[in-house]
Formats: sequence, structure tokens, C-alpha cells
Amino acid sequence: MKKNNNPDNQKDPKKENLDPFRDDPTEENEADVYNIHDQIVSREKGEPDEGFEPTPWWVWTISVLVLFVMGFYLGKFSGTFGTVAHEVEMPLRVAEERIEREVRGDQLYAGFCQPCHGSDGMGTPGRYPPLVGSRWVTEDAETPALIVLFGLEGPIEVLGQTYNEQMDPFGHRLNDREAAAVVNYIRTSWGNDAPEIEAERVAELRETYERRERWTARELQARRDNE
Ligand code: HEC
Repeated sequence: MKKNNNPDNQKDPKKENLDPFRDDPTEENEADVYNIHDQIVSREKGEPDEGFEPTPWWVWTISVLVLFVMGFYLGKFSGTFGTVAHEVEMPLRVAEERIEREVRGDQLYAGFCQPCHGSDGMGTPGRYPPLVGSRWVTEDAETPALIVLFGLEGPIEVLGQTYNEQMDPFGHRLNDREAAAVVNYIRTSWGNDAPEIEAERVAELRETYERRERWTARELQARRDNE
């Protein structure tokens, strides 16, 4: 191919006069077979190179940048491609909204306290003390809140009757708003008429006495006397 790119080759008058298809196997013509071949081949066009040019440098640069940015984005937001992100975050938010709307002391009482203290708050004689008219319920609001959060055990006198039983803590089952709602419910029901406690105060009590054992009536009395 190099040969026929040489312009001198093609302008050679001797070659221009040659008839390449002449059937004349003389010495001279045989010797010229390379020239003839070159002439034939030179009539063909070069290989087309459109569409086969080397990729320009900026295409590579942009590709690498885009890959880098996408990789960064995936690394940051893919959450290891787990489904956890969708399962945990969304229901939690919905659950929080529901609690915001639906914290109702009467329902919480029915679910958590009624089995022992009764729907009328009268308890069970000799076993579960009454909440109606009990000074443990109606005097300061912190005492019933502390009982609900951390439980109660040992002897306690309620309306002239002594009980010596055990009540489990509810602090891990009721959040601050719920504990406040149930305490406010027993303080304002069945003829009880005491001021309410704020959820914020319940939160403070929870933090102050974190990981506490059950209260005894004596401890609660001493605490109240000190206030
Ligand atoms: C499994 C039974 C049981 C459940 C459920 C229960 N309690 Fe009690 N509660 C008791 C017992 C027993 C005592 C007495 C403990 C003692 O003898 O020291 C008591 C005592 C109390 C007292 C102090 C005494 C009184 O009668 O004033 C309060 C206040 C109280 N409970 C509130 C609640 C509230 C509010 C709930 C629901 C969040 C609740 N209890 C759930 C069994 C229960």
C-alpha cells in the first residue's frame, strides 16, 4: 500500500501506457506485475475511518466524573441496598403520629390497670388496693407516677386496709405521655379530682430514678415528706 501512495509512481508515463489486462506474458510484463497490482489496488478507496476515531479525552473525563459522583451517591444513600430503611423508618413515623393523636388515659387504664384495680377503680379486697379515694393516688401527682413507672412492693395501707403484695413496673411499656395520661385518668375518675401531671415531669422522674427497684410505701412516704 505504501508504494501507491507515492505520487511519482502514478505519474510514471511508462506505467500510464500500460494496459494491465493485456494477455501478453512477456518478460517485461511479468516483471511489471507488482506495478500492475499496485495500480489496481490504488483505485480502491482507503478504509473508512468515520465513526472509528479515537474517543476524545473529554468523554473519558466526564465518564470518570459521572461514575465517581454516582458511586459517591450510592455509597451515601443506598443503605447497603437493604429493605430495612423502608421497613423501619416509615412505620416508626406513622406510629409516632398515631401516639400523638391517640394517647387516651381511659384506654390505657383498661388495657394495663383494670385487670387488677377494676373498671370502677375499687380493686379486689385483700389483693389489689382501690384507687378511688386513695391518698397515694390523689395527693401529690408524682407518687402515682413513680408507682406506675417503677412498680411497688411491701406493706401499704390504703383506706384503712393493709396490703402486702407486689405491683410490676410499667415504665418500659408506657412512654412518658402514656404514663402521664394513665396517671391523670386515675386522678380524675370515679370521683377522684386531683390536678394533672405533665408528660415532661414524668420524663424527669423517669430519668432521675432510672433503673430503680420497685418502690416501697415507706420510701414513697419519706420522699413525699421531704418535698
Ligand atoms: C397485676 C396487678 C396490677 C396491675 C396490672 C396494676 N396494679 Fe397497681 N397495684 C397492684 C398491687 C398488688 C398493689 C399493691 C402493692 C403492694 O402491696 O405494695 C398496687 C398498688 C397501686 C397503687 C398504690 C396503692 C393504691 O391503691 O392507691 C397505685 C396508685 C396503682 N397500683 C396504680 C396502678 C396503675 C395506674 C396501673 C396501670 C398502669 C396499675 N396499678 C396496674 C396491682 C396491680
